[in-house]
Amino acid sequence: MEKLTKTRRFRSEDWFDNPDHIDLTALYLERFMNYGVTPEELRSGKPIIGIAQSGSDLAPCNRIHLETVKRVKDGVRAAGGIPIEFPTHPIFENCRRPTAALDRNLAYMGLVEILYGYPIDAVVLTTGCDKTTPSNLMAASTVDIPAIVLSGGPMLDGWHDGELVGSGAVIWRSRKRLAAGEIDQTEFLNLAMSSAPSAGHCNTMGTALTMNSVAEALGMSLTGCAAIPAPYKERGQMAYRTGVRIVEMAYEDLVPSKILSREAFINAMKVIAAIGGSTNAHPHLMAMARHAGVEITPEDWNTLARPIHLLANIQPAGKYLGERFHRAGGVPAIMWELLNAGELHGDVPTVTGRTMSENLQNQQSHDPEVIKPYSTPIKKAAGFAVFSGNFFDFAIMKTSVISADFEQRFLSKPGSKGVFDARAVVFDTSEQYHTTINDPALNIDGNCILVLRGAGPIGWPGSAEVVNMQPPDYLIKQGITSLPTLGDGRQSGTSDSPSILHVCPESSVGGGLAYIQSGDILRIDIANGICDVLLDKGELALRKQSSIASAPESQTPWQEIYRNTVGDLSQGAVLELGTKYRKIAQNLPRH
Ligand code: FES
Ligand code: MG
Repeated sequence: MEKLTKTRRFRSEDWFDNPDHIDLTALYLERFMNYGVTPEELRSGKPIIGIAQSGSDLAPCNRIHLETVKRVKDGVRAAGGIPIEFPTHPIFENCRRPTAALDRNLAYMGLVEILYGYPIDAVVLTTGCDKTTPSNLMAASTVDIPAIVLSGGPMLDGWHDGELVGSGAVIWRSRKRLAAGEIDQTEFLNLAMSSAPSAGHCNTMGTALTMNSVAEALGMSLTGCAAIPAPYKERGQMAYRTGVRIVEMAYEDLVPSKILSREAFINAMKVIAAIGGSTNAHPHLMAMARHAGVEITPEDWNTLARPIHLLANIQPAGKYLGERFHRAGGVPAIMWELLNAGELHGDVPTVTGRTMSENLQNQQSHDPEVIKPYSTPIKKAAGFAVFSGNFFDFAIMKTSVISADFEQRFLSKPGSKGVFDARAVVFDTSEQYHTTINDPALNIDGNCILVLRGAGPIGWPGSAEVVNMQPPDYLIKQGITSLPTLGDGRQSGTSDSPSILHVCPESSVGGGLAYIQSGDILRIDIANGICDVLLDKGELALRKQSSIASAPESQTPWQEIYRNTVGDLSQGAVLELGTKYRKIAQNLPRH
């Protein structure tokens, strides 16, 4: 390995090699010996490489990192750094109640304090499950020490009776089959279990694979990192190379603020569209951009990302799963297509030390069935549609999952020009939806839109993945398997529902959604991103004089802090006061 030269003194040297404070230096040094690092080594001027361990028994989607980190440490040592592993707050999407979204800002905040308050010169961010990627990158921006993402990778592809079954996606599909009486509960569970055959995160293009792809698209992980399945041998090799590279980055002082430019975020937005990525990528990208001090507007999503074609044939927008995505070339193959279509900023710096276009040389798709050429995509102009209307300011819809059936029933009725009216059936809570959806008194038919409120960051609290509501069982039995839905919450990235999500302002803070009633007619124009309630202004104003449904009480201190500090989903639902702290590592904490 080449001899590395410092561009400046490492921040850890202020702890371990401070001649003005030998007493403090002694205190800092002595306990590290318990771990086997010698004082001589700590004082040798080598960089201390933090390894933010996101895996644990409570974070099974990231548990592969208990293994990958061993290889990271080998790489760090080989390159002349000192690895120090520490835990981050667990975030387990499926299991954390009332929702894992509550923990993204908590994990962010915790990691900021660790990276700032301890003698860490550079950090390897281990990511996997949905929120682990954005929380890590948000913190990396705030602190601004050299940082690199090591994804854990998706699980192997799931199979059941000779058919691919993908994480989450199989749940949404099987729920409908259960409602239609085609399968029983045992078969339902078997299908779900089959979708999770190995270590790793969700194998569909859900939020996890989307966000790890985003990290790579931003230039924050080594080329090809995102899609390698967790158990593959390449995953361990990637871990080793990531360990080597972060030491070099420490010497180069290659900090996130040199990489996370507006151009990098625009690249990532376009990749999200091309992979048919999760709707949750919207608030997470906004959150990462806000902490990086980069402005991204709803207009950017509409004008830059929406026209991008869908290239990845991966569930839920397509057919295949993570293994095929990786073998077809993964994120680099997607980006190669975008670059050659003139849709990418190729000259942006990345963690490799090279530009994105240099990273993408010879990275074209090996399998056009899975990653399509830009000239013959799966679907044209398939990014998110951004909405506003006379009762809200912002919402989004994932257009890549608009099915032929949905298209036919709502968008291509004769004379409709893609605009349709739907009768609202409103639920105040997700519990109310579940207990009453099959009640014939609700009179739900194929012309209805299911509306859910109280599911935003403050209302839930945390903003829940509950808006992808399925129709009543009797409609499913008639073959109507989906209805339009709208709400101030989110939906799983593994869902193929073209819901109108993240309505802002949310109902719990008095947004117009609070005043919509069952029976109201909503007029929806997807092409132009408009959703209006057909009521005159006077009627809307009158309704706003009534009080709104109250949100549940906070049950933990963090829930209360979260509610008092969070912004709305259109702006990433960040800890608002956190965005003013940037590049804080420039100033050392006092002794
Ligand atoms: Fe953790 Fe999908 S539930 S990655
Ligand atoms: Mg999810």
